Amino acid sequence: GDAITVSDLAQKLALKGGDVVKQLFKMGVMATITQTIDHDTAVLVTEELGHKAVHADAGDAESELLAHVEAVQGDQTQRPPVVTIMGHVDHGKTSLLDYIRTTKVASGEAGGITQHIGAYHVQTPKGTISFLDTPGHAAFTQMRQRGAKLTDIVILVVAADDGVMPQTIEAIKHAKAAKVPLIIAINKIDKSDADPSRVKNDLLAHDVVAEEFGGDTQMVELSAKTGLGVDDLLDAISLQAEVLDLKAVFEGRASGVVIESALDKGRGPVATVLVQQGTLSKGDYLVCGIQYGRVRALFDETGSQVAQAGPSIPVQVLGLSGVPESGDDFVVVADERLAKDVAQQRDVKRRETRLVAAAGNRMEDIMAQM
Ligand code: GTP
Ligand code: MG
Repeated sequence: GDAITVSDLAQKLALKGGDVVKQLFKMGVMATITQTIDHDTAVLVTEELGHKAVHADAGDAESELLAHVEAVQGDQTQRPPVVTIMGHVDHGKTSLLDYIRTTKVASGEAGGITQHIGAYHVQTPKGTISFLDTPGHAAFTQMRQRGAKLTDIVILVVAADDGVMPQTIEAIKHAKAAKVPLIIAINKIDKSDADPSRVKNDLLAHDVVAEEFGGDTQMVELSAKTGLGVDDLLDAISLQAEVLDLKAVFEGRASGVVIESALDKGRGPVATVLVQQGTLSKGDYLVCGIQYGRVRALFDETGSQVAQAGPSIPVQVLGLSGVPESGDDFVVVADERLAKDVAQQRDVKRRETRLVAAAGNRMEDIMAQM
């Protein structure tokens, strides 16, 4: 962060240098008026003196951003479904995702090597489907925090040889609370002790009723090992998506969510984002959590460069100022200045929140010792 001398800070606050020194002393910071204090200390002492710390020149970038987002309007068009896979430990979530990825993702030029990124999309005869490879519970926590839906459909994997287990029930609760429809993937039907009927019967006790029992939950018997039934699952997803009538605006500036992110040695900060509205293009300016930047390159899950990504499509973004957090939102803005202002203002706010929390903890420690 930016450092500032005590006298400069006093001047900005229209206070005497001595008053700031006194307050710093009370906070346990020994500094004279000519000394420099770091950003966090400056924010803290400013607040202690009853002033609000706001980043210089930032104005109210956040509301400018909001106006900007609201200004993007257009026709709603059908978009692909976004799917998350949940289920009890060892029931075959990873195997199913891997099977679909390795058999259904059209491989790029790079010798058919599919990178393992946190999300991918597949083309089926009935349309595109996007899969999020995040732990199901994390996806739901994020959704609750943001109050927005990241996932349209949950595939609940239940191993036919093991049946309904605690995390199966947990996933049903999550999906119901979030009002996200379930499709049951009854997995491992290649095994000799597989008993799909028992799974369907056990699910009745949790108000998950198969269509053949008069309910509205699609259940597909499959094997993530042999691939048997996987196409039926993809069909079931497309059918469910049709019922949900999922739509988004395709034209205009993109917005969406960060699925995962990392600092790559050669490429710098890399974020996998899910576009939710608009179209993200190479060259766009964006703000992403407390980071900002200009899209230098976009990559799909096969590692191929793409020029654009529309709603429901996950894509890797290069060109950010730093590594955003998964669950952060991103918004494309008209110019770099707005992107930078919003990102910096958010950064200041996050630090303040952390400082207040840290100060609270210290206070609790002191009280506990008294
Ligand atoms: P966690 O991530 O640990 O919760 O497990 P998971 O749900 O991702 O299960 P995973 O895909 O790792 O599969 C667990 C085990 O079951 C592995 O040994 C798989 O090879 C096996 N398995 C998964 N699907 C099938 C299947 O359809 N048939 C058979 N026979 N084995 C399967
Ligand atoms: Mg797994």
